Amino acid sequence: MPGLLAFPAGFRWGTSTSSYQVEGAVDADGRGESIWDRFCTVPGAVENGDSGEVACDQYHRYREDIELMASLGLNAHRLSLAWPRIVPDGVGRVEQRGLDHYARVLDALLEHGIEPLVTLYHWDLPQPLQDRGGWRHRDTAERFAEFAAVCFDAFGDRVRDWVTINEPWIAGVLGHQLGLHAPGEKDLAGSARAMHHLLLGHGLAAGALRATGRPDARVGVAYSLFPHTPATDAPDDHAAAHASDGYVNRWFLDPVHGRGYPGDMREHWERVTGPMDFVADGDLDVIGSGSDFIGVNYYTRRLVAADAEEAGHAPWPWRVEPGRAEVPRTDLGWEIVPDDLTALLVRLHRDYPGVPQLITENGAVFGDEPGPDGAVHDDRRIGFLHGHLAAVHRALQCGVPVEGYYHWSLVDNFEWAMGYRPRFGLVHVDRATQRRTVKDSGHWYARAVAAGGVPP
Ligand code: NOJ
Repeated sequence: MPGLLAFPAGFRWGTSTSSYQVEGAVDADGRGESIWDRFCTVPGAVENGDSGEVACDQYHRYREDIELMASLGLNAHRLSLAWPRIVPDGVGRVEQRGLDHYARVLDALLEHGIEPLVTLYHWDLPQPLQDRGGWRHRDTAERFAEFAAVCFDAFGDRVRDWVTINEPWIAGVLGHQLGLHAPGEKDLAGSARAMHHLLLGHGLAAGALRATGRPDARVGVAYSLFPHTPATDAPDDHAAAHASDGYVNRWFLDPVHGRGYPGDMREHWERVTGPMDFVADGDLDVIGSGSDFIGVNYYTRRLVAADAEEAGHAPWPWRVEPGRAEVPRTDLGWEIVPDDLTALLVRLHRDYPGVPQLITENGAVFGDEPGPDGAVHDDRRIGFLHGHLAAVHRALQCGVPVEGYYHWSLVDNFEWAMGYRPRFGLVHVDRATQRRTVKDSGHWYARAVAAGGVPP
């Protein structure tokens, strides 16, 4: 097609979901309780009293959803395995019915020519482990590696690429510092410990994957990466943006890719929460012992100004500004900045050269509902998709090794503390009937996949 922004052959065109957000069936087949089941019972924790109890009922409807993916022509999909379905108590006994379920799901994906990318921790920690201290407790990292080893053993013949931890920064900050996500803690020092143990869990699981001896297996983290823009050209704002980048991005990328914790941010943390005595000798070797790809979750940027202290947040020397009036936004108010995705991917390639990249999430909330014709005319999501795929294409042209794009999400689903209000799907889900309707954006994506590229 003339003028097509063509993607390389073998590019992975996918969608992304996570267990608690889509599965429902929280009591099925011996599943244990997760911290999100518990958190959803706390009055006021989740908008509208929503929970993942039913979600998209994908536990029962996975065949229908995989057929939907196939009808869109996708060749890749990212899903997560619920730890409480496989090891209901978080440690010890393995639930065969949980393994059997995921075996069926993975087989159905493969039968449809869809390569699975499997996340092991997308925030649904078994509650019994939380009762013992959760991620603040070093033991949880060890238990995670045991769970990971069970999954490698059961599914290593079907899964090549594994994401260990999803968004360790969000899990640490929203879950342990601001109390907005499960387990609902507000403990700054605890959040530093939790983030370290999440990274340690990654490193231990990566070691367990290498121990399987599977030569083609790969492992990585999916980071919530926010490019930073200084609010003004003032040197103080530039310094603040760099410091905040240390907090959000480099704190995770650097150790996982073998550079240890960045010194500037370690100073901030130790100034605020005291010595990081929970970092044991050898931990950074484990964490940095080899990751095979960078998982990029990209939604928006952070506009940052210098500040002595941000009220209601950690005492860091920066402030996050609300964004610029002239920049378009999603219905959640997130600035839409595709150029920053290109810059982010180029920067990752510069700072961690040669490491393959996967866009493990990218998407937007636009609240379009079916019209009188039954279709969902979500032109703004089409614009978002087009802009961000073109941004990925520009990065590819700069030589960045991006191997795939997984749109968040296949279906409208449970958006954590915001419940079901935000709709991220390429496919609309009617909450009362579970009826799926492919939105116009889903049809647009299918055409891009079929063409192997997007219009300029
Ligand atoms: C990040 C998380 O990984 C995912 O669970 C969430 O739904 C999306 N981003 C959208 O906020």
